[in-house]
Amino acid sequence: MAQGVIEYKDTFKVDPVTNQNIQYFLDRFYMSRISTRMLMNQHTLLFDDKSGSGHPRHIGSIDPCCDVVEVVNDAYESSKLLCDQYYLTSPELNLTQVNGKAPGQPINIVYVPSHLFHMLFELFKNSMRATVEFQENRPTLSPIEVTVVLGNEDLAIKISDRGGGVPVRKIERLFSYMYSTAPRPDMDDARNTPFAGFGYGLPISRLYARYFQGDLNLYSICGYGTDAIIYLKALSTDSIEKLPVFNKSASKHYQATSEADDWCVPSKDPKNVSKQSAAF
Ligand SMILES: Nc1ncnc2c1ncn2[C@@H]1O[C@H](COP(=O)(O)OP(=O)(O)O)[C@@H](O)[C@H]1O
Ligand SMILES: [Mg+2]
Repeated sequence: MAQGVIEYKDTFKVDPVTNQNIQYFLDRFYMSRISTRMLMNQHTLLFDDKSGSGHPRHIGSIDPCCDVVEVVNDAYESSKLLCDQYYLTSPELNLTQVNGKAPGQPINIVYVPSHLFHMLFELFKNSMRATVEFQENRPTLSPIEVTVVLGNEDLAIKISDRGGGVPVRKIERLFSYMYSTAPRPDMDDARNTPFAGFGYGLPISRLYARYFQGDLNLYSICGYGTDAIIYLKALSTDSIEKLPVFNKSASKHYQATSEADDWCVPSKDPKNVSKQSAAF
């Protein structure tokens, strides 16, 4: 699919309407796929796992007592391994955990650990790449600060880096399937996992978070760094599957509206500015 999007981008010029439609379609397509895979996986793990290789505590792919900090550490280590391979260096991890429900106790939720791992791994890779590239000339790299907090309703994981951040103007673009600032990975090179470049890390991770009613947001300070926050539901009763519906409202999304914008567009052309003020 990523290759298809890349070929489309190369062949046709991408306009905002096409980008919006592709975004809408792929978000829903991948969300359905996450759900189908979850069902298939759950079924085979529960009914076809004769070797008994599954974790004894797990129910299929669900861990009723998922140790969030353990998954954070695993994802960090995996990303660090790749980062060291690419850049020969990697930032340290500083982890803080706050259990607001039961102070001092480990943080556990009912969740699919592989989904959580996926999101964290993508966010760590992004933070590591930004830190290493932004702090190229410094003798030591700023660590990545992770805060895990369990509240009554939400479980939040904040990943903060000092990787120089992104301008506010570009934040929405980062979640586009058509955007990446990394060099394009080599599609034929199956041996090496690319560190970045498909532009799929953020949008797919946000879908994983939303799949069980959570979310993923990015807050960035241009020139300084980025905070990425994963929100998950703390209670399993709130973690309900979110699925797209295919109905008339869905097909309406593809009908491009050519309505005029209801906010003025600031013009840098002095002639236009004087024309606009003359109209007032
Ligand atoms: N923590 C971050 N700091 C700075 N830029 C970031 C950060 N996270 C993401 N980005 C920007 O967002 C883009 C899209 O990220 P992502 O969806 O993971 O795709 P990829 O990493 O393959 O480019 C990156 O190419 C990068 O420019
Ligand atoms: Mg990435």
